[in-house]
Amino acid sequence: MTKKNIDWSSLGFGYIKTDKRFVSDYKDGKWSEGRLIEDANVVINECAGVLQYAQTVFEGLKAYTTVDGHIVTFRPDLNGERLEMSAARLEIPVYPKEKFVDAVVKTVEANADYVPPYGTGATLYVRPYIFGSSSVIGVKPADEYQFRVFTTPVGPYFKGGAKPITIRVSDYDRAAPHGTGHIKAGLNYAMSLYQIVDAHNKGFDENMYLDAATRTKVEETGGANFIFITKDNTVVTPKSDSILPSITRRSLMYVAEHYLGLKVEHREVKFSELSDFVECGLCGTAAVISPVGKVYDHGKEICFPAGMEKMGPVTQKLYETLTGIQMGKIEAPEGWIKVIK
Ligand code: PLP
Ligand code: COI
Repeated sequence: MTKKNIDWSSLGFGYIKTDKRFVSDYKDGKWSEGRLIEDANVVINECAGVLQYAQTVFEGLKAYTTVDGHIVTFRPDLNGERLEMSAARLEIPVYPKEKFVDAVVKTVEANADYVPPYGTGATLYVRPYIFGSSSVIGVKPADEYQFRVFTTPVGPYFKGGAKPITIRVSDYDRAAPHGTGHIKAGLNYAMSLYQIVDAHNKGFDENMYLDAATRTKVEETGGANFIFITKDNTVVTPKSDSILPSITRRSLMYVAEHYLGLKVEHREVKFSELSDFVECGLCGTAAVISPVGKVYDHGKEICFPAGMEKMGPVTQKLYETLTGIQMGKIEAPEGWIKVIK
């Protein structure tokens, strides 16, 4: 194995083409065996379901080099389960989670030279997705689909790495009650593009979305769930049917309770409570845990006491424990780590 000649430590969160990707086709009511291919381009009909009616769902997970040199992924079975749920909601045929994990393993193995070495701060991002590939012009699901997995080495999602970011409350909604906010569908991200460009133009790093019905409760950002820390070190995360059930957030809640002995609460979080919290962070595969220093709300600023210089102490402990588990420095709960090689 010879690692690719990449300056791993200066990677941002971008796309770099790697050698192999996995493809399985759905035709005549069944998924094909699947194979690794070299061509990174997808050729589909101009009237494909994905192009006309956004019929596509995806996942995101990472492969890590552990302290002892293995390549592993983190809880890929949960990504497989979530993709099944997302697909069902958009009338996409389910790609079974066992085959999903197998495809992830094969794709990472085939691109092992792109898995960043331990200690570089970079990881291999894995992007499984399914899309409607056959033509549809009336509004209905496609008959044919592709399931694909590609990989790309990435660094931190936010430029400053672990430096606290500033977010603003969005005036637009991302997800409707009883809509699709709880699944990982491309359409949810299309819904957030105007807001993210506008936020960046105005000097903010991300948007905080409130619940669309009452605009009184905290939901999530465009690409991560929230965690908040109270004065007495309780870890609080928003509960809502219209946010993505983050695997990072579920893992952090377990880590907080069982590794760090902290109290955890998964409940509705009122926007008006924000100023009671002492730390705030975004959590997700891409974001890992990114500290939030400040929330801007139409001329008012909510500044968390942890400040704009570094992560607050509880967020820091959560970060170290979670990444310690992922990198093999801390023993993982049973079934969390899938060793690839
Ligand atoms: N929320 C949204 C909207 C996301 O896109 C993501 C990223 O996957 C998350 C939350 C975090 O989920 P996970 O921790 O499973 O990556
Ligand atoms: C992930 O964390 O995997 C996501 O899909 C979020 C996206 C904003 C990159």
